[in-house]
Amino acid sequence: MTRDWDAWIDSELASIRGFGRWRAHRALDGDGVLHRTSEGHEVVSFASNDYLGLTQHREVVAAAREALDRWGAGSGSARLIVGTRPVHVELETELAAWKSEPAALTFATGFAANLGVLTTFGGPGVLVCSDALNHASIIDGCRLARADVCVYPHGDLVALDGLLTRRGDRRALVVTDSVFSMDGDVADIDGIVEHCLEHEAMLVLDEAHAVLGPEPDPDRLAAVAHVRVGTLSKTLGSLGGFVSGSHEAIDLLVNRARSAIFTTASTPADTAAGVFAPPAFLSPEGNALIGRLRRNVDRVAPGHPSPIIPVIVGKEDVALAAAAELLDRGLLVPAIRPPTVAPGSSRLRVTLSAAHSDDHIDRLLGALDELGLHP
Ligand SMILES: Cc1ncc(COP(=O)(O)O)c(C=O)c1O
Repeated sequence: MTRDWDAWIDSELASIRGFGRWRAHRALDGDGVLHRTSEGHEVVSFASNDYLGLTQHREVVAAAREALDRWGAGSGSARLIVGTRPVHVELETELAAWKSEPAALTFATGFAANLGVLTTFGGPGVLVCSDALNHASIIDGCRLARADVCVYPHGDLVALDGLLTRRGDRRALVVTDSVFSMDGDVADIDGIVEHCLEHEAMLVLDEAHAVLGPEPDPDRLAAVAHVRVGTLSKTLGSLGGFVSGSHEAIDLLVNRARSAIFTTASTPADTAAGVFAPPAFLSPEGNALIGRLRRNVDRVAPGHPSPIIPVIVGKEDVALAAAAELLDRGLLVPAIRPPTVAPGSSRLRVTLSAAHSDDHIDRLLGALDELGLHP
């Protein structure tokens, strides 16, 4: 490394610190929602995306262990070379059935899935319309796609319609989170589907956080060209992204999505762990977990559509101070600040899980109340 590079790195680090935006990893021991910090403090986490607690589910862990024993720790290669095991095919069959789509394809992560989808279906000559609050992986996928990207104001379907009306002879694609990851609000999917139908646009729907819905109207969705993006890494308790859609759309991804082609296949253990969740979702146990999550959400923010509950405080230092106060009380709630959210909208981001007990929720509500904070 040259001196110039040393100086540049130092000045970048100093500027991050100077803006009060320093971030660092924190190693937490323990499992589920109960953790021990490196200083030995017991904390209840309200920060994970493990919405149904499946990361700790006995059968999920057992499936991963069996896959390790049978196929080893890694896949050894990309899917199209020699990385595909029967369990990858089994998972894709389960995911397609769960989403009521003809086919599915797994990716190493949800991030990689969005990159793959947007670079495959976007491209020169395509108009991509993207909601202003879409996830970073969608933003980066749009950048990589080399399409004409237009960002419409969050949830503004009139603006979306205006963009689609002016598409000219370009093919058009609309991409949206179904649940927005920092605000926990939901897209008007059925409304967006209608605009896509009217303008013959393709819809890319990222359902990474859609554990409590919203579910698109299946008949209307079927009428529009679409793919659905999801991830095993949140509700489904494992690691890996996936896309579901028509056989043809999935075949095109298999052949064109560089973020799937030029990367090693997901490990057999992660893949096998993921197989448990789709059928479990439709089972009485899955229903009970979703019901439990719904109740926890309703206790903190009645009627809120998702397990992501923002407590907006505005300034970054206020958010950091509030997170520190909660940590002192044994509650881990992250402060989210720019550049992840817009300046002036720093917040605590509470995420709830079916694994939270009534006592955990009581403690959270009591502490927020003491600090004068209200979701
Ligand atoms: C809406 C959305 N899409 C995609 C991703 C990426 O998923 P993964 O964590 O599996 O890479 C995330 C992760 O936070 C997300 O919030």
